[in-house]
Amino acid sequence: MMRVGVLASGSGSNLQAILDGCAARAIPAEVAVVICNVPGARALQRAEAAKVPAVALPHQKFKSREDYDRELVAVLQRHRVDLVCLAGFMRLITPVLLGAFQNRILNIHPSLLPAFPGMHGVRQALAAGVRVSGCSVHVVDEGCDTGPLLIQAAVPVLEGDDEETLAARILVQEHRCYTRAISLWAQGRIHLEGRRVRIDGAAGAPGRTISSPELLD
Ligand code: GRF
Repeated sequence: MMRVGVLASGSGSNLQAILDGCAARAIPAEVAVVICNVPGARALQRAEAAKVPAVALPHQKFKSREDYDRELVAVLQRHRVDLVCLAGFMRLITPVLLGAFQNRILNIHPSLLPAFPGMHGVRQALAAGVRVSGCSVHVVDEGCDTGPLLIQAAVPVLEGDDEETLAARILVQEHRCYTRAISLWAQGRIHLEGRRVRIDGAAGAPGRTISSPELLD
């Protein structure tokens, strides 16, 4: 069984979707450890409720980002993690973590990348006046939200949307996309080919949908 390490900072609703997906066997993997840089974050409580090792690792105690990432790597390796999933982890990671888990770190971002990377993807989409936004699951590289894209889902921007309402609608799709991507990864169906990603079994149904996870159901 593939072992997933989840890094989170906040509410952890994506973490919950991953925990639920593993429990329901929709994801053929298990969450081996949850690490959170914010003590008391809801994500830690969710891990504890699921009887998954929950580690609070406040970053303030470390002199540099690299020192912090060295400790992250140690905890992940101690729990024999195969795949690292960033789920609302509000920290920039360094080559220390990237190198230890090369091409084995995923992230979920609330925009259709490469549009609107960074901290405020939803706010930026609204400010730009786009009619469609969404979410993206990608492999993490050395840039900020720049790595190869695995799964994306489109979400319409509605009249009267504000950051909160649009983010909430995108979050529903994040849970679908992230669990689907991790499941495909665990099945060995994802192949990185430079910046492009080939997914076994995802070739058919052109035009059927604009939401890529549906192609893979
Ligand atoms: C999500 O919108 C995710 O895309 C972003 O941070 C948020 C985390 O939400 N990176 P949650 O903690 O999973 O509820």
